[in-house]
Amino acid sequence: MMNDSTRRQMTILLLGSGAREHAIAWKLAQSPLLGRLVCAPGNPGIARLAELRSADIESPEDVVALARELAADLVVVGPEAPLAAGVSDALRDAGFVTFGPSKAAARLEWDKAFAKDFMHRHMIPTAASRTFTSEQLDEARASISASSMPIVIKASGLAAGKGVVIAATVDEALEATEGMLSGSSFGTAGSSVVIEEFMTGEEASILVITDGAGYRMLAPSQDHKRVGDGDTGPNTGGMGAYAPAPIVTPALLDRIAGEIIEPTLAGMREEGTPYSGCLYVGVMIDQDRPRVVEFNSRFGDPETQVVLPLIDADFIELLMAASTGKLGELGEIRSRGAAVCVVLASAGYPGSYRKGDEITGIDRAESLGGTVVFHAGTTLDGDRLVTSGGRVLGVTAITDGDRGLEDALELAYRAVGMVSFAGAFHRNDIGARRSGMV
Ligand code: AMP
Ligand code: GLY
Repeated sequence: MMNDSTRRQMTILLLGSGAREHAIAWKLAQSPLLGRLVCAPGNPGIARLAELRSADIESPEDVVALARELAADLVVVGPEAPLAAGVSDALRDAGFVTFGPSKAAARLEWDKAFAKDFMHRHMIPTAASRTFTSEQLDEARASISASSMPIVIKASGLAAGKGVVIAATVDEALEATEGMLSGSSFGTAGSSVVIEEFMTGEEASILVITDGAGYRMLAPSQDHKRVGDGDTGPNTGGMGAYAPAPIVTPALLDRIAGEIIEPTLAGMREEGTPYSGCLYVGVMIDQDRPRVVEFNSRFGDPETQVVLPLIDADFIELLMAASTGKLGELGEIRSRGAAVCVVLASAGYPGSYRKGDEITGIDRAESLGGTVVFHAGTTLDGDRLVTSGGRVLGVTAITDGDRGLEDALELAYRAVGMVSFAGAFHRNDIGARRSGMV
């Protein structure tokens, strides 16, 4: 627990501009420890909770300058790109308490080839895989031709959640691999590809808060990555989420802790790159066996929108403890209630999409009670709120009680019905897999 001298009102700088950062700001704002919250660059939803500042958040110099100007007590890095650009390292070097892993530790996300090698080295369960560089196109082709389908092709670098192709045929796999290795699909992010075994099962997301040694698992959640109902169509950044995910039973959570999280944190320490911040573990669960689909070096989006509301603890205290190696001084973190987030997206997403359409009904949706509309891709045009991104809003419902998830689903879709903009669409089956029966 914090002693009295740290129980003062803190100035916090939050980096990012999506619905994830809106949810982080919303949770930070509930802490009595918060004095001043500044977000760069933020969005119109975050502007209701924080002062917004413009800054190039992928520039270590700009971010350090802003943190200095604010005399920030804590800097929270939302997205992965600033981590990969060395922003967390520059902040720590300049003496700022920073929530977010070092660039070297964040490599678990920004270099999938590294992450796979790391998992194979430390015997962390994951899909069998091989990595190929652009010089090894012929070997990649031969490997694909000799493999059974489907097979999964991944650009090794950062591709905003879109660099994964699940190929049903050899031709599709070859086309995806050639596109990536030639640089035409994802630029330098595709200069190495990971080709891996297709895993069957149910996916879940586990967000872990860690100071490098100790850790706390937040409520397990499920994302919905495909654009269409019934998990059809292309992958997106995420069309909705719910938590807790009943498929992750307490026994399974113990296995995930023992077989995945602990060896990952220990491996990172052993390799001289201890991991602190939020570790996102995407797992595939097949007959009670969890295997890693991916690591992310930050909170998940849209999982954060449903996981943070359930945390029954002071969020600033938690992030401070993780950022200062003091997680051991905190008690267990309990989660309570249930939450559902339905993403409203713009026509065309995840391809090119409409922009500039006026959004109405957010106030009505939020007046239902237990609802909050997180902004993902919105901007102000004069005093009109308009769409500016593919994922526009995360309409979220939070409930308590025994029927938490059922009630949250009903409430979330009621709220969705109140918000509108031209070309809006959403999935109708968020949470449908909650019983594990679909
Ligand atoms: P990633 O960006 O690595 O999470 O991949 C995006 C999505 O592709 C995942 O959420 C899964 O639905 C799917 N995926 C990735 N890797 C595999 C795999 N090896 N087997 C089956 N599905 C996968
Ligand atoms: N929801 C998936 C991610 O945050 O990468």
